[in-house]
Amino acid sequence: MGKKPEMGKWLLYQFFYRNKDIRPYLPETRKYSHAAFRDMLNRYRSLYVKPVAGSQGKGIIKVWRSANGRYSVKKTTLAANTFTRVDEVIRRIDALRGGKMYIVQRGIDLAKVHGRPMDIRVMMQREKPGGRWLYSGMLAKVAGPGSVVTNTALSRGTVMDVPPALTKALGWSRERADRVAKRLESLGFVWARHFDTYQLYRELGFDVAVDTSGRIWLLEQNTAPSHALFKRNKANLAAYRRIQYRWGAFERARRNQAREKGKAKGRVKSKGTTVPRL
Ligand SMILES: Nc1ncnc2c1ncn2[C@@H]1O[C@H](COP(=O)(O)OP(=O)(O)O)[C@@H](O)[C@H]1O
Ligand SMILES: [Mg+2]
Repeated sequence: MGKKPEMGKWLLYQFFYRNKDIRPYLPETRKYSHAAFRDMLNRYRSLYVKPVAGSQGKGIIKVWRSANGRYSVKKTTLAANTFTRVDEVIRRIDALRGGKMYIVQRGIDLAKVHGRPMDIRVMMQREKPGGRWLYSGMLAKVAGPGSVVTNTALSRGTVMDVPPALTKALGWSRERADRVAKRLESLGFVWARHFDTYQLYRELGFDVAVDTSGRIWLLEQNTAPSHALFKRNKANLAAYRRIQYRWGAFERARRNQAREKGKAKGRVKSKGTTVPRL
């Protein structure tokens, strides 16, 4: 485990795109270039421009068309700048990008809790190496003030349980919110199993968006998802405890398997010798 390199956001998109069952959940994504950016800016109301090798929301830029036909550019929690011409927008992005490789992605109109965008972390784990996937929990990450990313540390956001977040954000009944949460749980299995065709990880955390019309989008996947995030969800510490328990169970199973392997090797070695095993 942990032998293949992390894919980065561009390879990850292409990897998920190959799966026909997953493709409908992916917002259109291209490698950032001026041509790709211009093309997508013509077709979508907002775009996210993200570093291929980024995490924790760092370096993420949102671009959208403002009411007066101007363009706004906003990096993470910084103030937005507005421009009238696309070349000015591009110049600004390139300055913020600092030569790093980026992707450009269709912006999803995230559901909002008290005016703040939210998305959802779905946590999947195994209890032993090569074991089946288990669903461990999910929570809603609500962006802090003035942030275009929901990552809690960077945006100073908050976390909450998913069904109440969905009822608040979308005016849904509790039944509908529960149904969608169940749907996200079953999608977690589909996505995690597809990821196994790349490499078997011990846990995976999916960032999932629900847009203002209730549509589900897969934004990204994390191979080292935070446990501390779940500790912050005081309304549901059972999920955090489950995550910790499974991490420990995996650790014990891994050590046992290593010990068994060691013993097996020992037996092979002593085969054919006259040294008695004491
Ligand atoms: N296409 C998008 N539309 C709307 N919000 C997005 C989009 N992409 C990212 N975000 C927001 O930015 C956050 C960070 O993006 P993500 O792709 O998860 O990068 P990171 O690896 O830095 O966490 C997401 O959790 C979400 O809140
Ligand atoms: Mg993320």
